Amino acid sequence: MRAGTCMTTNELILAIETSCDETSVSIVRGGREVLVNLVSSQIETHEQFGGVVPEIASRQHVESITIIMEQAVREVGIELRDLSAIAVTQGPGLVGSLLVGIVAAKTLAMALDIPLIGTHHIAGHIYANQLVHELVYPSVALVVSGGHTELVALEREGQFRIIGRTRDDAVGEAYDKVARALQFPYPGGPHVDRLAAEAEDEIELPRAWLEPDSYDFSFSGLKSAVLAAVNQAKMKGQELNKPALARGFQASVIDVLVTKALRAVHAEGARQLLLCGGVAANRGLRAALADRCAAEGVPLLAPPMALCSDNAAMIGAAAHLKWKQGEFTALEMKAEPSFSLEGWSVRD
Ligand code: KG4
Ligand code: ZN
Repeated sequence: MRAGTCMTTNELILAIETSCDETSVSIVRGGREVLVNLVSSQIETHEQFGGVVPEIASRQHVESITIIMEQAVREVGIELRDLSAIAVTQGPGLVGSLLVGIVAAKTLAMALDIPLIGTHHIAGHIYANQLVHELVYPSVALVVSGGHTELVALEREGQFRIIGRTRDDAVGEAYDKVARALQFPYPGGPHVDRLAAEAEDEIELPRAWLEPDSYDFSFSGLKSAVLAAVNQAKMKGQELNKPALARGFQASVIDVLVTKALRAVHAEGARQLLLCGGVAANRGLRAALADRCAAEGVPLLAPPMALCSDNAAMIGAAAHLKWKQGEFTALEMKAEPSFSLEGWSVRD
């Protein structure tokens, strides 16, 4: 099919996501209606290593991908020939993991002679919101995941401009490292979130604001402050007040994320703030953003929990942007571990 064709908008896209430790397949109609969204998590396998082991992740994707693809098609009760296009996460992510999804997607697209849409993982996280909300522009997205922390301005649909990003650890990565220091298993974010909510006291920790006009983030200093507190307690033989430390860590993270996100919303004249990524499941962050947005009259959107962490439905939602423009990907495409979000924007 030729690029530039104006496509119908009730297409059926089979989407595949294998960028990290979830094997996921979804079928999405018209970029909005999720007919099925199967997610097979490898967390139990990686838990024992305290983080994702890339080689093991790729092998597990190989074992699961065809089974999950078949199951998705069966559950929806369609024939493969009913599909309009195959979407797959092209990057960013672990190269070996991405490749498994990409080979499966290419094979299916070729066999069915339908378009292939290489999709950006972060665009997927942002457009997960479109599965449940009506989006208006301009808008600002706060992307918080295990691998990414970004503020993205969207002047119009599918146009991405990164205005801030982390200079060191991603916020989810900082959560996971802090959780590990507090002896919680991987992924530790939900444990720190729970502990912070239960805490009665709070240990004050620093905030990394960076330059006054910067939308960038830095979490490594904060993470080091937590590790220092843990070590100090150990050396002095004192019992560590884990909940108070978790609460102090979470308060620092949330304060910076919320303040910068709201500043970006006002500076960009955004009509909505879109929260997305695995850390968007954080109850403290959701509550703080909801309060600030309500106080400042900013509509806040966030996907339901199941669509915050990695899943293929969000890839189907983002791929719809390209489908509408008739912008397809050549079968020769490669996995792009450092794929550019801005470069993935739809054509003018
Ligand atoms: O988006 P995601 O599923 O994978 C990436 O693309 O990175 O995000 C996973 C990250 C992990 O670091 C996990 O600890 C974090 O999201 N996370 C949380 C919470 N739930 C998941 N972090 C803080 N609070 C939570 N409730
Ligand atoms: Zn993700």
